[in-house]
Amino acid sequence: MPKTPYKIYLTEEEMPKNWYNLKAVMKELPTPFIHPGTLKPCTAEDLEPVFCKELVEQELNTTDKYIEIPEEIRDFYKMYRPSPLVRAYCLEKLLDTPAEIYYKFEGTNTSGSHKLNSAAAQVYYAKKQGIASLTTETGAGQWGTALSMACAYYNIPLNIFMVKVSTEQKPYRKAVMETYGAKVTPSPSDTTEVGRKILAENPGTGGSLGCAISEAMEVSMKTPNCRYVLGSVLDHVLLHQSIIGEEVKIACDKYDINPDIIIGCAGGGSNLGGLIAPFMGDKIEGKNNIEFIAVEPASCPSLTRGRYALDFGDTGKTTPLMMMYTLGSGFMPSPNHAGGLRYHGMSPIISKLYHDGYITARSVEQTKVFDAATMFARCEGILPAPESSHALKVAIDEAIKCKETGEKKTILFGLTGTGYFDLSAYMSYNSGTMEDYIPTDEDLEKGFATLPKVQL
Ligand SMILES: Cc1ncc(COP(=O)(O)O)c(C=O)c1O
Repeated sequence: MPKTPYKIYLTEEEMPKNWYNLKAVMKELPTPFIHPGTLKPCTAEDLEPVFCKELVEQELNTTDKYIEIPEEIRDFYKMYRPSPLVRAYCLEKLLDTPAEIYYKFEGTNTSGSHKLNSAAAQVYYAKKQGIASLTTETGAGQWGTALSMACAYYNIPLNIFMVKVSTEQKPYRKAVMETYGAKVTPSPSDTTEVGRKILAENPGTGGSLGCAISEAMEVSMKTPNCRYVLGSVLDHVLLHQSIIGEEVKIACDKYDINPDIIIGCAGGGSNLGGLIAPFMGDKIEGKNNIEFIAVEPASCPSLTRGRYALDFGDTGKTTPLMMMYTLGSGFMPSPNHAGGLRYHGMSPIISKLYHDGYITARSVEQTKVFDAATMFARCEGILPAPESSHALKVAIDEAIKCKETGEKKTILFGLTGTGYFDLSAYMSYNSGTMEDYIPTDEDLEKGFATLPKVQL
């Protein structure tokens, strides 16, 4: 076997032609969405006023392991995929570890993250269905940027509610989205009923993904022929992100790389779900014994300190109920610099896998995350996104453990994006003013108190 190259690029022909539907392999399925009125599982008819038809079909598909990626989407993907699988030789050397470290780098497109994988698909289906406009939320701004790129390509107007604190931290993100033609409103705003209500109850709030989702959903419901699109959490988003894991799998098979540990940061769970999909499928089928680790911020610890419960996906309590690890839809995360990880809940698929013991989880403090990010930037050259650096931090921890034990493990993590728009965070870290926020048990209780009291 030749020495593993620094970067493994697949050819366009080698790019996967199907997405990987983990639900078709899972031994036990996640609880379906529950209609908050009837407390019955949501049907396609319940979901179609909000989401495009084909996305609803994908959301409800529990039988097809492979779902074909339409050629038009594959052509879109070719603008920036396949993405490289990189052997972090420089990091390994710096850490003086016997471990092999690999990262799948999803930051090679203008949105700077993996989010474009689902944006390309969701806008394609909207266009095919003749939808006139789309609404969405964005936290860190990567999803909004990705979606505005896809909407510009397919020529569909887009209305984005951006978490207010992120709008302030990242004015240039807003400028990029506007350049691609999107309308960007800081959330909570006074332009929607739910936004006005949230503002009245939490004056001065910096917002959260949960608030922005409520506002975007309200606009989609009130605007004719408009649909809402979500950048994470939902099963169909994880499905689209499985392109990441499938490319990794092909590259690993080609170069005989056998990961012992796969690590991903977890906000709503989409990159993690996508990265692990085919490997998790193999694990469920008894073909590997990989350790999967989800990494979340200590400031918003839905897996490590949350409850497995039925909850709303948004602060305004307008979505169906989802069975997930959650801090309660009323939980307002304290400000941190990983805006894309500030979500009260977790993907139902990831939650179920975690609940059933297939995934473990860790939470990390942001100053430690930035220690790792800075180390990585200096030796590997890429300026990582704060979100991605959560996974990086745990990859480094594991590589250091290998140094201590002498084990030669193969560690793979998802480097989901770049941090060029996160320079205010890097400035705060560099000047020593960055703080770690960890909610107290009392803070968490306030969020849990907002959980709906339902019994199925
Ligand atoms: C770079 C990056 N990584 C990770 C995430 C987390 O999202 P998810 O858990 O859905 O992958 C985000 C979300 O905005 C992001 O921008």
